[in-house]
This record gives sequence, structure tokens and C-alpha cells, in this order.
Amino acid sequence: MLRFQHEINNWEVNQVASTVLVTGGTGFIGSHTTVALQKAGYRVVILDNLHNSHAYVVDNIAKITGVRPAFVQGDVRDPQVLASTFRQYTPDAVLHFAGMKAVGESTALPLVYYDNNVHGSVTMLQAMQAANVRTFVFSSSATVYGDPQQLPIPESHRREATNPYGHTKLVVEDVLANLWESEPGWRIARLRYFNPVGAHPSGLIGEAPQGIPNNLMPYVAQVAVGQRDKVRVFGNDYDTPDGTGVRDYIHVMDLAEGHVRALEYCRDCDSSELLTVNLGTGQGNSVLEMIRAFEQASSRPIPYEIVDRRPGDIAACWADTQLAEKTLGCRATRTIQDMCDDAWRWQTSRVE
Ligand code: WQD
Repeated sequence: MLRFQHEINNWEVNQVASTVLVTGGTGFIGSHTTVALQKAGYRVVILDNLHNSHAYVVDNIAKITGVRPAFVQGDVRDPQVLASTFRQYTPDAVLHFAGMKAVGESTALPLVYYDNNVHGSVTMLQAMQAANVRTFVFSSSATVYGDPQQLPIPESHRREATNPYGHTKLVVEDVLANLWESEPGWRIARLRYFNPVGAHPSGLIGEAPQGIPNNLMPYVAQVAVGQRDKVRVFGNDYDTPDGTGVRDYIHVMDLAEGHVRALEYCRDCDSSELLTVNLGTGQGNSVLEMIRAFEQASSRPIPYEIVDRRPGDIAACWADTQLAEKTLGCRATRTIQDMCDDAWRWQTSRVE
């Protein structure tokens, strides 16, 4: 068993670890998953077009783990880049994070979202076929459930995309099911994330949205450091305990470790597998609870104003986590306060 030490160098990891390709690996979830993969002894190659991230993330991953992942700057929609990456690094699995993920933006730019998220995924799968690599972990989303008809939400819940972003995830889930049915040997995990938040405890990597954050927690963090004046709370008239939206916030490191478990599950299964599983905590927290937790973490007051509901928002959403626990042995361990403490450390250590 490869012991993981800070001093381990690339050569030692190269000699014993299997190689995985992480697309979108300089992004929020991809970078944290790369850290978890390296800690588990995998050799990682990152492919990223840097459309919504920065190359310095590769340096910071190396600072955390002591091992610098290989990095290819390129686009998953480019078959030549994919073919040369498979030739050069011979990965035996792909974790596919590359894509666009802003719900509102997807409504304004549907073709851009279908091109990146659907075309990009299909091009990657074609490159895997050509390279005879058939282990694939896909970054899906709880958004495929639409407005939930039951809570907690099980994986068997009907799917209903309510925006182009969610529809791209639903379509790629179906592409994967059809591919798995058509060709033996594919080992596929479709992971449905709830609301990933927080940062690596080192403060060296975290969520770095460009422009005005769409999501709650990066926005709250920017109010805490004084970059923005107040949080606009989108509605307090929902049928929830305090009237504000309730979501299943999961620490990004719990999410990252869930990917490692899903990869190992796929590699250990016999000939083929199509696994679909929620990655959440099974608990819901409201907007106001998250604001209070961040005030605790930052020791700063976080002003907010109740405004109108955001179009398309749902009242409440949290995961049924039984399948993740049963098949992957996954259970989120980090608390809401851990998420806020780590996010605050990242927010205050960032040098932009
Ligand atoms: C959370 C809560 C808002 C911002 C989206 C995607 C989902 C996933 C996570 C990718 C809601 C409220 C928010 C603000 C607020 N992304 N809010 N003021 O909408 O649950 O999920 O991001 O996979 O696919 O749909 O996350 O963080 O935007 O909102 O009051 O400035 O915070 O109404 O109740 P959401 P969010």
C-alpha cells in the first residue's frame, strides 16, 4: 500500500499509482477531488481550458499534496487534444468535471451550455472509446430532480430539468445509460451533487467564481470581507421553518472523497456498472442558518436584506443518502461550521 508522505516525489507516485484524467481539474470540485485522488495514491493528469479557473491552482495542489499533477491546457471538445493526452499519459479512468454550471447563465446562453456540457461529454466519451478506456465518473447534479415531490430525495425520484443547465446534466446521464447498454465493459458512476460549499482546510484552494457569485456561500463570504455590502435573501415566504430556502450543503472535501470511493467502486466491480448516486449530507439548512454560521466563522456581522424570490428557485431540497452509504460506504463527516470555517480561511488567504 502506497504510504502517502509529503515528501513523496512524482517518480515514486508514477511507479506504483494508476493514472486518472481529471477534466476541469483546476475548478472548484475538480481541484479538491485531485487532492483527494493524490492522497489516495493516484497519479492525476488535469485537463482544463481555464475558461472559469486559473493555472495557479495546479501549484497550490502541489503545495497541499507534495505532488504536482500533470496539467494539459485544453478543451474537452478538441479530439486532437484528447487523443494526444490519452497517448502521452495513458490514464485508465476519467473523472469528468469540465462544463459550465450557472443556472441563470444557461437560460441566457443555452447553445453555449449544450456545446460545452453535452458536446464536450460526448467528445470525451468518443476519445475514451478510441483509447479503450471505459471507467468514467460523471459530475451530475441534484438539479436533475427539478422541484422535488418528496424529501429526502432518492435516486429513483423522477427527473425534470427546469433550466438548460439542468437539462444538459439530464441529457448526459441518458447518453451514459445508452452507451452502457450498447457496449459491454463500461464502468460508469453518475454522481448527483447537492450544494457543494467550503474549501480545503489549508486555505490554498477553494471556490473562486468570476464576477458576481450566483451561489449563496461565495456571495456571503464576499460580504464578510467587505467586498459586497449585503446579502440579498431571495424570499422568506417559502414553506420552510424560517421562510427562506433550504438546501443540502455538503463540504467540498466530503464530495471529493465521495468521488474517490465511486472510482474505486467502478474499478472493483466485475465487467460493467452503471451507478447513480446522490452526494449530499441528508440534512437541510436555510439561508438564514448559513448566514449565521458564517458570522460565527468570520466573527463579522453579515448584513442582509429580504428581497423577492429568484425565478426558478425551489423551496427545499436535501438528499436521501442511503444508497451512497450502502454502495460506497460514503457518509459526510464535516459540519456546516466546518464548511464556513474553511470557506472563511480560503476567502481571507486568497491573493487574487
Ligand atoms: C442556495 C439558496 C437561494 C444566492 C445551484 C444549482 C445547482 C448547484 C448549486 C451545480 C437558495 C438562496 C442564493 C443569493 C440567496 N450547482 N440565495 N441569495 O440554487 O440551490 O443550486 O447551485 O451543480 O445545480 O442549481 O444554489 O447557492 O444559488 O442558492 O438567498 O445571493 O440560497 O434562493 O435558496 P442552488 P444557490
